[in-house]
Amino acid sequence: MAIERIIVRSGRPLEGTVSVAGAKNSVLKLMAATLLAEGSYRLDNVPRIVDVDLMAELLRAVGCAVEWDQVRSSLLHIDVPAEISPVAPYDIVERFRASVVVLGPMLARCGEAKVALPGGDDFGPRPIDMHVQGLVELGATVDVVHGYVEASAAELLGGRVVLEFPSVGATENLLMAAVAAKGATVIDNAAREPEISDLCEFLSRMGASIGGVGSSTLSVEGSGSASPLHPADHAVVPDRIVAATHLAALGVASGEVFVAGARHDHMELLCQKLTEMGMVITPDDGGIRAIAPRRLDSVDCSTLPYPGVATDHLPFLVAMMATAAGVGIVTENLFPGRFRYVDELRRMGADIRTDSHHAVVRGVERLSGAPVRAHDIRAGAALAVAGLGAEGTTVVSEAHHVARGYEDLAGDLASLGADVRAE
Ligand code: UD1
Repeated sequence: MAIERIIVRSGRPLEGTVSVAGAKNSVLKLMAATLLAEGSYRLDNVPRIVDVDLMAELLRAVGCAVEWDQVRSSLLHIDVPAEISPVAPYDIVERFRASVVVLGPMLARCGEAKVALPGGDDFGPRPIDMHVQGLVELGATVDVVHGYVEASAAELLGGRVVLEFPSVGATENLLMAAVAAKGATVIDNAAREPEISDLCEFLSRMGASIGGVGSSTLSVEGSGSASPLHPADHAVVPDRIVAATHLAALGVASGEVFVAGARHDHMELLCQKLTEMGMVITPDDGGIRAIAPRRLDSVDCSTLPYPGVATDHLPFLVAMMATAAGVGIVTENLFPGRFRYVDELRRMGADIRTDSHHAVVRGVERLSGAPVRAHDIRAGAALAVAGLGAEGTTVVSEAHHVARGYEDLAGDLASLGADVRAE
């Protein structure tokens, strides 16, 4: 269902169980990785979100068949043909930035790739210089021509790539190129996010040889070409950002909730922060059990690459801090322009001051419901969460952003007893 707005009325404490589907930030890369080898793949625990539909559209545009299973709603079938067309057109790429991860696998499979340059996001410029530099170090020639990144390599050659910053997307593109390069590749200062490990696991099932999984030094024994790789089945790692969204909703509304499927080991620092704020967080039987008191205490926090507090978790922490007792200082180190949701929270009566990539959040007793706008996926979800702690009604418009990363946020919150609906 296409949604336009989420309508939130504050009220009851939350109670019950909510489940977390597979991670958007993993499945999109797994779908891209299928381009490496001809054949039939089955991906399970796939979230039914708009970005998956968009990646499916992109895969179809290069020649693949992508279908949901008729019986199991989280199962996606992908058939990759013997020949793919290594071009990712602008009209699809501009709709979701993650599409740039087809660059590495297309280049590895076809010796060439043409991917439209992704635009900026609403939270600032998102360059791909590290993706490009890394591919060049593996022997590719890369040019930007008429808004397209054009890469070619008669043969990719393994080498050592030191990333200037542990970029998630650059690590993924390089991994997917390196598995088919000739010889060994070492990616140093690699991103360590759980979604990267999920991709490594999937690539290994496809026949790749990757060492150091989960660490910042990944070593890949390249197979010389994509042909030795083969299809595999895989279940997507649970979404730690969606899990954080449910925990934050509980933090704002109070109550007791079980987040089924949430991986405590993938969100340890966030859970530590939530505990400092007064919540009781317990890993339990394939999920996280959490209890939140009537009012939380504030905390300080800074975002960092994994295992630091994720930039995608910060809007939720700030939404909680807006009505927590005390003052919290937060620093956004990954995307300095990512504070637009703060202006929206201010419209709801939050007392937050920003200074470049820092914000000082002075908790108020209660926010007041207001019309606010979702500038990106997490901002929209965080505003809906904040609405649970606001007097009156909050209407989050441009909620189509939220649908890019959540199957049914309003339905999930409503199943826990919140007065939330989407339309
Ligand atoms: C991914 C996630 C996103 C998350 C982010 C950081 C997906 C689809 N998205 O985005 O939700 O917030 O990781 O955890 O998985 N940078 C450069 N040059 C580059 C690449 C990155 O300067 O070539 C900079 C970026 O501008 C940013 C920082 O590095 O400041 C981190 O970006 P990166 O880790 O690459 O994020 P994404 O992969 O785009």
